[in-house]
Amino acid sequence: MSQPLYQLVYCSRNRIAGSPNAVAAEVGSLLAVSRRNNALAGVTGALLLHKGWFAQVLEGPREAVEASFAAIRQDTRHGDATLLALEPIAQRSFGDWTMGFVGSSPENARRFAEVGIAAGFDPARLGAKALHAILLDLTLTTDFALAA
Ligand SMILES: Cc1cc2nc3c(=O)[nH]c(=O)nc-3n(C[C@H](O)[C@H](O)[C@H](O)COP(=O)(O)O)c2cc1C
Repeated sequence: MSQPLYQLVYCSRNRIAGSPNAVAAEVGSLLAVSRRNNALAGVTGALLLHKGWFAQVLEGPREAVEASFAAIRQDTRHGDATLLALEPIAQRSFGDWTMGFVGSSPENARRFAEVGIAAGFDPARLGAKALHAILLDLTLTTDFALAA
């Protein structure tokens, strides 16, 4: 039987400094490593970077998800990681994504506004359920715009 699936949701503050292009390049390399590692570990999910915040959903076998988060939270490219949820799920929401990404392109700015997170974005207050819904909505319709 396959292992039970878990979903972890956290948010953190971006610590990548520099021009928008430099940030986009760093996020691009972070995503490339993430997708390679996650594919090997059976982890799927999505990452959002908006107004200085990261928010990420990680899903997969519990050990894999927890090991991934333990490594991610050591990463100095972000800080103040706050765990918002770790719970069993019946099925993956991001099964096709070794790591989907939602950045703040002009196109995404409009769509962020549509889902009501244009002003005063605070993922810690939004909570895991709302973040999951936002990531699902935006990841499934985004084209990997990397502008941060
Ligand atoms: C916001 C953020 C999200 C990350 N997400 C992942 C991820 O989903 N999977 C992953 O393997 N690494 C992720 N990383 C990168 C890890 O912190 C770490 O750099 C990487 O796992 C090291 O991989 P390596 O040992 O193969 O070099 C993330 C880093 C940051 C800052």
